[in-house]
Amino acid sequence: MVEALGSPAVDDRAIGVFDSGFGGLTVARALIDLLPGEDLVYFGDTARYPYGPRPLDEVREFAREITSVLVGRHDVKMVVAACNTAAAAALELLRFEHDLPVVGVIDPGVRAALAVTDNRRVGVIGTAGTMASGAYERSVASHRANVVLTCCACPGFVELVERGETTSPAARALVEERLAPLRQAQIDTLLLGCTHYPFLARIIADMMGREVVLVSSADETAFEVRSILKETGLFRRTGGKGAHRFISSGDVRRFRELGSRLLGPELDDVEGWTWD
Ligand code: DGL
Repeated sequence: MVEALGSPAVDDRAIGVFDSGFGGLTVARALIDLLPGEDLVYFGDTARYPYGPRPLDEVREFAREITSVLVGRHDVKMVVAACNTAAAAALELLRFEHDLPVVGVIDPGVRAALAVTDNRRVGVIGTAGTMASGAYERSVASHRANVVLTCCACPGFVELVERGETTSPAARALVEERLAPLRQAQIDTLLLGCTHYPFLARIIADMMGREVVLVSSADETAFEVRSILKETGLFRRTGGKGAHRFISSGDVRRFRELGSRLLGPELDDVEGWTWD
């Protein structure tokens, strides 16, 4: 922390962001757009994705390991768990274990969905792990929101995105099959409770029809990060564009190719990471 007497507090360290793979790039995009002056370190655990089908205990350990890398090696000032499955498994523990702000994506997503729904019937889709954790029901309950929440696990969606297959006929067929139960639920809002899913938004929107609004947690998470930076005085010194570093535990060349397609030109270099 750099704090000169009489001037506002500033903190030039980066914001750490992580996900099982490419999904958290939806949150990274929102952060870069909202906070262009902040440095960012993104960790995609592509060697160990998908997290969704794994036991939550295992995902919790992965989240702890990645957070240790971000804090210990990259000295980040804040961690964004840009993965619903990891947030469902580990958010409270990470907050307990680290003396810095740890932001998840579940509460921000719920806030965004509650702000949108008119008929108070909201659907949420996510990985098997996130849906089984009950994290969305708990978050909605904590808002004392009078809404009917219909939860639906969508196994296979993350794999589609990780393969870069976001518009193929096979992707459409799987999306149609998985979303069928939601089409009976008369929802007017569908919360994408997995950070990979915005990359499938076009076909999900097609399936759900025009009367259903899709909501992702990315923007609301970025707003929450900005509020925390403001409250804690952790903003980076103003002026100049932030630097963005990307790390993948899997194939770095592939991460760069697909990642730059999904995120944009900021993802022009990827560093490797190997788990022992
Ligand atoms: N983006 C992760 C999430 O939000 C995907 C988890 C996975 O790898 O299955 O849940």
